[in-house]
Amino acid sequence: MKNELILILDFGGQYNQLIARRVRECKVYSEVVPYNITIEEIKEKAPKGIIFTGGPASVYGEDSPKCAEEIFELGIPILGICYGMQLMTYTLKGKVEKAEKREYGTINVKIDNTSPLFQGFEKENKFLMSHTDYVETVPNGFSNIGATETCPNAAMENREKKLYGIQFHPEVNNSINGTKVIKNFLFNICGCNGDWEISSFVEESIKTLKEKIGDKKALCALSGGVDSSVAAILLSKAIGKNLTCIFVDHGLLRKNEGDEVEEIFRNQFDINLIRVNAKERFLEKLSGITDPERKRKIIGEEFIRVFEEEAKKIGTIDYLVQGTIYPDVIESGLGKSSVIKSHHNVGGLPDYVDFKEIVEPLRDLFKDEVRKTGIELGIPENLVYRQPFPGPGLAIRIIGEITDEKLQILKEADSIFREEIAKAGLHKKINQYFAVLTNLKSVGVMGDERTYDYTLALRAVETTDFMTGIWSKIPYEILEKVSSRIVNEVSHVNRIVYDITSKPPATIEWE
Ligand code: XMP
Repeated sequence: MKNELILILDFGGQYNQLIARRVRECKVYSEVVPYNITIEEIKEKAPKGIIFTGGPASVYGEDSPKCAEEIFELGIPILGICYGMQLMTYTLKGKVEKAEKREYGTINVKIDNTSPLFQGFEKENKFLMSHTDYVETVPNGFSNIGATETCPNAAMENREKKLYGIQFHPEVNNSINGTKVIKNFLFNICGCNGDWEISSFVEESIKTLKEKIGDKKALCALSGGVDSSVAAILLSKAIGKNLTCIFVDHGLLRKNEGDEVEEIFRNQFDINLIRVNAKERFLEKLSGITDPERKRKIIGEEFIRVFEEEAKKIGTIDYLVQGTIYPDVIESGLGKSSVIKSHHNVGGLPDYVDFKEIVEPLRDLFKDEVRKTGIELGIPENLVYRQPFPGPGLAIRIIGEITDEKLQILKEADSIFREEIAKAGLHKKINQYFAVLTNLKSVGVMGDERTYDYTLALRAVETTDFMTGIWSKIPYEILEKVSSRIVNEVSHVNRIVYDITSKPPATIEWE
């Protein structure tokens, strides 16, 4: 059975992914596609509806993204948001004007609640407006269904042709009941049923992967992270022992993590697993290295070398499995802001592995959908909901040179911290928490002895997007317990500090 589909035409707005997510939250499958998708491709995809996103351009700009007039003749309902509404107006020969002043903020919009788009709404609602250009005259066949004090056409409709435009952003949280506008579009206007579920995604994916790969061979690099784990297990459900997973254990994982990954894959899911214990090799390459970016680069490269060596032993394979997820797909190709840290994600593409094609079973899913898929597949919750862990692992949590001794100290201390956070029930509230071994030694006293040992830092942040975050106000009693346990149970730590900086100005990791 084919899913109901909503196509989201990307005109470069900053909230595009959010629109896609909101639609999926309504249990309707959505896809973000470039604005210049051809009419033929649209017809082939046969969407139930189309959404035009916002974007920074002005319809009068020379290079501004445009669409063909024909799109409005397909009989498919369209909702234009912000720039999308202006483009609809411009293409259908209404009038778009430049305002003197930008209208920005959560603003009162008077609406016509007899429109199917605003069914169930009060006559006045607060929505996020963020625009300079505005629609001065709606195109022929359209009527006004919304206005603010300064924007005469904040919403418009051509009910008969099912074409709608809104100047505000329904997808953001600041727009009260914004999702209801999207729901109305999906259910009242496009006639969607809303029956898209993760369980049907899982079932369908397994079936398609089975048909596609059949009895050919696939290979997957496992990092122990959520995405590669879910991708691998999904694939193993489809092709069983024709999948081989290579788990490169660089020795920089948290305490017991390597064994836990092995236990899940080998014993619980009976997957063909090759675990390469490459700690010595990585530590050798990292010996004497103190620069964080060099550490990242070395680990990234070495990971691929180890993977390639193992893959060569297997010989030719047909498919290489990648844990790419939807935000990676949407973001790639768009301009990126400046690189603060080169976030190397273990599992990059090896150059010398002999394969015919890449499979990316999760490329249509958002992170929370990947987690739901994981749960659906029976992967233990602690793996599916684990906190983010950087590809280069503990290497960027040991400041300065990495040695085996430092690694052991950090693993033990970090494990105690995580254990106490979980015991206190704070693990769901704090989004990332870990220990850092600083390169600083200081004087202490233990019994009657003078000590000269390491200072350990504890870091805990609360964040939703990991781009900004605040330091977590962990209760003193818990910090006290963690501190006393670590100094008592872990040798060579005689001082513990708690990091009380938010991001920005600090980053989450210390390196
Ligand atoms: P920062 O330290 O930049 O971290 O505030 C933001 C998020 O990214 C993670 N991070 C990394 N992840 N490779 C990764 O796969 C890396 O090199 C890396 N550096 C930071 C960090 O753990 C946090 O979740």
